[in-house]
Amino acid sequence: MTLLKVPTPESLREASDLLKSGKLVVLPTETVYGLGANALDGEAVARIFAAKGRPHFNPVIVHVPDALTAQKYVSMDARARAVAAAFWPGPLTMILPRLENCAVSELCSAGLATLAVRVPAHPVALALLKESGLPIAAPSANVSGQVSATTPQHVAEGLGDKVALILAAGPCAVGVESTVLDLSGEKPVVLRPGAITAEQIADVLDSDVGYDFGDHGDKVKSPGQLLKHYAPSVPVRLNAVDVAPGEALLAFGAIKFMGIKGGGSARDLPATAFRNLSDTGDLNQAAANLFRMLRELDRPEHTQIAVMNIPDQGLGIAINDRLKRAAAGSRKV
Ligand code: TXA
Ligand code: MG
Repeated sequence: MTLLKVPTPESLREASDLLKSGKLVVLPTETVYGLGANALDGEAVARIFAAKGRPHFNPVIVHVPDALTAQKYVSMDARARAVAAAFWPGPLTMILPRLENCAVSELCSAGLATLAVRVPAHPVALALLKESGLPIAAPSANVSGQVSATTPQHVAEGLGDKVALILAAGPCAVGVESTVLDLSGEKPVVLRPGAITAEQIADVLDSDVGYDFGDHGDKVKSPGQLLKHYAPSVPVRLNAVDVAPGEALLAFGAIKFMGIKGGGSARDLPATAFRNLSDTGDLNQAAANLFRMLRELDRPEHTQIAVMNIPDQGLGIAINDRLKRAAAGSRKV
């Protein structure tokens, strides 16, 4: 059962405690309601994908209370600082390079080297960010494929049974999602139009700002299509039931019966060649670990990454979607 609560110091403290314990909390922003989780906790972020019922992983926006906090996680050059000074707090998201020691879960980046950050202009969102002291990962609070929710009632209809608390603060002022500005490359590019226009951004930067809505003549099916997906540089082999010499193993569940071809057990693999997405077979934990572990096994001394079978249900569908892309993308011609 979900609780809809009016924001008060008490309900904000409760929301903050829920976030700290890995639960999902819906928060109002000036654009749309967000489905929030502690961005530092990969398993909490994985619950966002389970709740939304997305069949694939898209990177999600991480909300922070101010630009100084953003700089704990991403590298902000002079352009990013100028845009932040002009439009934050506000309906603008920046895609920026992750810092090397970035503590935000890699699931928020869907394995990419960039992270989307934004400072929302809503007193309740800002109060929750300050009360919790956490960066909050929050995509729009709607079930996958449905429109973004701008009222608490609308959120409750779609996600009511999947979240611990909805902070109900009335309709959102802007009503459409934030402008997404990619500043990770040389040329600033707007990936999603929103209340802040490319012209306004160009004025601040005193340079051209491009558009790429990914709609190159066709209908846009999902914003995720715009993304270059992360793929390991080493080939990926799916549904492995054993390991070949030279291969690394990405396991799921018990590995008692995994052998190395030609002799030996998977348990004898060197630590650098072995990761287990979840030794208890927990799909939520596997989702939280997926991108980090793929990266860790993506080393030139490995001929291939052998991945054990993962059940194609719940979050397993999104995990398998990503693994299939990795296998296809890395297949040698
Ligand atoms: O107004 C908003 O932005 C709302 C409120 C809750 O803040 N949030 C929101 O999040 O709309 P979401 O996850 O539904 O949309 C995030 C968009 C997606 O199109 C995603 O593909 C893109 O931003 N995005 C996020 N991280 C990215 C990255 N590292 N590179 C490229 N695109 C990214
Ligand atoms: Mg959305």
